[in-house]
Amino acid sequence: MTHLVQRDCAAPSSLNACDIEIKLLKVLEAKSSDPDFWSSKERDRSDSAHCIFQYPAMMVPIVQRRLLGTMMEVRPDIHSVYDPFVGSGTSLVSGMHYGMDVYGNDINPLAVLISRVRTAPTVNSSVDAVIEQISDLAKADRRQTIETSMENREKWFKHDIAIELSRLRRAIRNCTDLWARQFLWVTLAETVRLTSNDRTSTYKMHARPADEILKRKQSPILVFRALARENASSFSTFRRKLTDSNWIKSAKYVGQSDIRLGDARQVANSLADVGTFDVLMTSPPYGDNLTTVPYGQHSYLPLNWIDFQDIDATADIAMLRTTQEIDRRSLGGTYSNGAWEETKLLDASPQLKQYADRLPTKPEDGRTRLLRFYRDFAASLDSIVGVMKPGGYMIWTVGNRSIAGRQVPTDLVLSELLQGLDSKVITTLTRRIHHKRMPDRNANSATMREEKILVVRTGRP
Ligand SMILES: C[S@@+](CC[C@H](N)C(=O)[O-])C[C@H]1O[C@@H](n2cnc3c(N)ncnc32)[C@H](O)[C@@H]1O
Repeated sequence: MTHLVQRDCAAPSSLNACDIEIKLLKVLEAKSSDPDFWSSKERDRSDSAHCIFQYPAMMVPIVQRRLLGTMMEVRPDIHSVYDPFVGSGTSLVSGMHYGMDVYGNDINPLAVLISRVRTAPTVNSSVDAVIEQISDLAKADRRQTIETSMENREKWFKHDIAIELSRLRRAIRNCTDLWARQFLWVTLAETVRLTSNDRTSTYKMHARPADEILKRKQSPILVFRALARENASSFSTFRRKLTDSNWIKSAKYVGQSDIRLGDARQVANSLADVGTFDVLMTSPPYGDNLTTVPYGQHSYLPLNWIDFQDIDATADIAMLRTTQEIDRRSLGGTYSNGAWEETKLLDASPQLKQYADRLPTKPEDGRTRLLRFYRDFAASLDSIVGVMKPGGYMIWTVGNRSIAGRQVPTDLVLSELLQGLDSKVITTLTRRIHHKRMPDRNANSATMREEKILVVRTGRP
């Protein structure tokens, strides 16, 4: 069931903000009377080109649209939406349905590529013809050269699969339009996911049994062509909707869109040229990537077949040094550069302290891993709050994962950390999870069947 937690309204000097909050609470409460309003049982794979790649833990477009739409009912002056953990770009495409300027960043190059493709202001109108040309080119290619230098290739790709993926990679390089090439790279990424020896049932890399690999008969070129056609069709539906709403004029999206490759802990510097944002809408990682969702590992095989310079000029190929490097550089990774001291962190969040103090002593590094994640998360909040407009709003969707059978109160920890940064939690909604692909069904995640949505006002109005 959805429930609202109302906190004190703002100081007397901010009556206007107080009125808005009361109105916002009323509207949220009215909508929450339908227990599925924030959950949505309907599942439309093609909504806003949602399924061009099966990215882990994607939000649901219609739910994010409802959240933004509700916000706009009370604050029609909102123009920009920002996602510091952009993933596959669900929040930003939702913002495009309202003609907003959309901004995002992610540490994972694959996430940046997918989000750039989905939120591009202009797209190649002849993409259908491009798909046929590129697929035909790959089919006509007879070369045997393998176009990836990844270690352990034979473990992850059968020889005939690697040959066809190489032909596709060479063919895509012939496409002269950058957006079309990026679209084709995303399609190739999904083709790699479906045709490699990696199991598709989990996000951690795990090869299928040898007999199963032997039995599998697939043609990456055929898979690619079918996926590309499907992706192009969902794109054209999405763009048509934006055109019907007048958010696309003369084939160009009316707002700004800017997706950057970068660490959420550094956005106060890296986004300084853009200005501040009206609304943040995001879902951060659940915890450290190795024990929750390894976004980097899930992206490792596809990224080994994509030309990095087509993703971003700063994309660093050293990200593929090992299967774990992207996760190592992500929140909670061992590359940690969260500047927060443990005592400062635990003072800022008594909920976290209480939870950490009761953690079992085994595994020995359990406490270290938990606090390393929250140190990094707290450092990213510092930076993120700095790019928000004072009096702007933040919508955080978080999952309360469990460690050793006890739920980490992520929503409460996040509330405390944000309050320490002069922000105010207006309300917390609960959403049931109907469809989201969750981490492996292990002790950490088996209990995650709902998420919390924190609606927050930033700084002083
Ligand atoms: C829950 S996912 C976001 C999914 C997204 N909401 C969607 O619908 O696809 C969290 C994202 O945080 C990213 N991430 C992890 N550490 C990061 C960091 N330090 N800076 C920026 N992004 C990071 C991961 O790469 C991942 O894409």
